Amino acid sequence: MIKVQKGTKDILPAEMPLWHFMEAKADEVFSKYGAKEIRTPIFEATELFARGVGDTTDIVNKEMYTFEKSERSLTLRPENTAGVVRSFIENGMHRLSAPVKLWYKGPMFRYERPQAGRQRQFHQVGVEVFGIKQPTADAEVILMAVNYLKALGLNDLAVELNSLGCPECREVFKTKLKEVIKPHLSELCPDCQARYEKNPLRLLDCKVEECKEIYAKPEIQAVIQSDFICEECADHFNKLKEYLNALNINYSINKLLVRGLDYYNRTVFEIKSNNLGSQNAVCGGGRYDSLVKNLGGEDTPAIGFAMGMERLASLIREKEDKKLDAFIVCNNPLEAVKFAEELRQQGINCEFDLTNKKFVKQLEKASKVARFALILGEDEIASNQVTIKNLETSEQKTVERNNIDLQ
Ligand code: HAM
Repeated sequence: MIKVQKGTKDILPAEMPLWHFMEAKADEVFSKYGAKEIRTPIFEATELFARGVGDTTDIVNKEMYTFEKSERSLTLRPENTAGVVRSFIENGMHRLSAPVKLWYKGPMFRYERPQAGRQRQFHQVGVEVFGIKQPTADAEVILMAVNYLKALGLNDLAVELNSLGCPECREVFKTKLKEVIKPHLSELCPDCQARYEKNPLRLLDCKVEECKEIYAKPEIQAVIQSDFICEECADHFNKLKEYLNALNINYSINKLLVRGLDYYNRTVFEIKSNNLGSQNAVCGGGRYDSLVKNLGGEDTPAIGFAMGMERLASLIREKEDKKLDAFIVCNNPLEAVKFAEELRQQGINCEFDLTNKKFVKQLEKASKVARFALILGEDEIASNQVTIKNLETSEQKTVERNNIDLQ
């Protein structure tokens, strides 16, 4: 038997109400902020991710599904910020009046080791806001994330915040960090040894215990916990914190929060749940002021986030599948099919028994799948009437066929 691929899952009909709920709430909440939906292709040129996400990241180095077609290297999108930025540039969206607010939903692909909350094909819902460098945009984007989660009924979540500064102040920080870590270089895991040269900031979110112990040493912590960001970056960060306080958004500062993608500067944030085990981030985002320019567009500041929909789904209580409005109980298939079409034209969702079972069996089925049974016996057919049975209260009445009210 051919089975579903490791790290991928079917979303079955019983789970669909939950997915429709998450998608409808995204549209409802993000529209309130003036965001418009965008759908970009699922595969893009590999170079887009190499340049966009960054060639020192795990995503680009180890996790991409890359394939060749007509001598072109293509990649299934591992995330959607790079694709949305490509589309922003290609469609001249910098000419629209700022801010340009876009939201998206859809599948992403990363060749990761599957575990609870981590899949190889997963879905994200996300927002990208272009054109505003002021921290008002940072506050609004965080507010959009928090309010979307609230609309899903998820309140018990923690917002973590950090500022990575600008390339200039970050360079000074990286040099200091490398200096204090250098004496321990040979004790670090192979990944950290590579990161030390290529991307020292990523040392901070290594999950290997031995590395974590080294980074906990007082002289290393002193550098990590220091306020390294320059005056302008500090001003941006302080204003953001002020806005979040005024908006009553609870957050904590996490100096170890560096994010796994290379495009960020200044604000980065994650939203975490205590009920998800080790893969506890439901949302990750931040500012990426250089990405549009680096990918060939006009210099345009931007900030956004994405959330893992499978992780959200596991936190939301089951949504009940909606029942049909009506099930037609009838032993005359031709009458049943005609009547069903009449009802559907009137906006009533209905089904009938396609195999012409006994009346009692049909009634049993009706009570499982519908709110009302519409009984069409020989008498009703002859008099152009129908008997409506409310399947919750068992109340029953016979009415004209053109006068059906299922309230
Ligand atoms: P990210 O942190 O890589 O950021 O992913 C965002 C969210 O997607 C994570 O917090 C998690 O909920 C979910 N996620 C990531 N990988 C997996 C996986 N393998 N299985 C299940 N869920 C997963 C980004 O993707 C950035 N593009 C976010 C962003 C938008 N930054 C600025 N704009």
